[in-house]
Amino acid sequence: MNASPSTAEVLRAALAGLLDGLPPTKAAQAVDRLIASYRGTTPTDAPVLRDRTDVAAYAAYRMPATFEAVRSALDALREAAPAWTPATHTDVGGGTGAASWAVAEAWEGPEAPRTTVLDWAEPALALGRELAGASGIDSLRDTTWRRARIGAALKLDDTDLVTVSYVLKELTPEDRAALVAEAARAAQAVVVVEPGTPDGYERIITARDQLIAAGLRVAAPCPHSAACPIEPGTDWCHFSARVSRSSLHRQVKGGSLAYEDEKFSYVVATRFPVAPAAARVVRRPQIRKGQVLLDLCTAEEGLRRDTVTKRHGQLYKEARDAEWGDPWPPA
Ligand SMILES: C[S@@+](CC[C@H](N)C(=O)[O-])C[C@H]1O[C@@H](n2cnc3c(N)ncnc32)[C@H](O)[C@@H]1O
Repeated sequence: MNASPSTAEVLRAALAGLLDGLPPTKAAQAVDRLIASYRGTTPTDAPVLRDRTDVAAYAAYRMPATFEAVRSALDALREAAPAWTPATHTDVGGGTGAASWAVAEAWEGPEAPRTTVLDWAEPALALGRELAGASGIDSLRDTTWRRARIGAALKLDDTDLVTVSYVLKELTPEDRAALVAEAARAAQAVVVVEPGTPDGYERIITARDQLIAAGLRVAAPCPHSAACPIEPGTDWCHFSARVSRSSLHRQVKGGSLAYEDEKFSYVVATRFPVAPAAARVVRRPQIRKGQVLLDLCTAEEGLRRDTVTKRHGQLYKEARDAEWGDPWPPA
């Protein structure tokens, strides 16, 4: 008997059909142009995703990766608050809906939250609606797609969960602050995800400080809501999610690797009490002969390296299975 496909597989299948009818070079050119505008001096004062080719290229090229990054952040939220299920969700700057797919996967079935996606780019909303409509997933099909501009005037309806995924980079510092303040006011839980780069991490730390000042507590990745122990400018907290490569990826990037690793930084903060991990693995574990080196961020001692050896018995087995981003010790 075949298992039913995962949400990631359904998304992949929906995206595969997207570039049908578009000459491959046109899709690759659109991706090149998007990469250039995302590397450029953002923020922009007009949408980068201007037409169907732009959004199809964005969705096919980036959505599997942003989906996986948000999915990891939501997994961390669910680990910290296993009994909590949001009834409503607002995805701000949601574009073609990657975070909404991740939310639909995290809380499936009749309990799935009602999602509203807000974005200023109508072509992105239109494509998002189309993909969600073809998903066969009720909560995605029922999603509301609404045009909204992020800025000082943005007002969000009260909601249980707000996601802001790969959006802060596109905003001015003032609009970022306005968005995080409004998310903190409107939501019970706020999830912010950015690229796992030094500047992405800085935006996450600024958002984290703002969420804490607004009365929320950090649920993940940090084991505490105190200051980040990383000395500014010396390192950046980020994680990694494995993403299968599409044929468009291979065309744009060359090579034949079947996957790539999406690096991302994130923060999850809540108004309700949560149980953050005692510590989190903040680098890829190094497996040596008879020992595993774990770089941890801990609640009590900040950054710490643990060496787990065979002498530790069961813990050693668990350390060998531990992955970058996991809570430690495992529950
Ligand atoms: C890099 S995309 C991320 C899309 C989606 N959240 C994801 O994770 O795949 C950034 C999105 O933010 C939207 N955006 C940027 N600035 C905006 C603004 N001022 N108001 C509303 N949406 C904005 C863009 O239109 C785009 O859909």
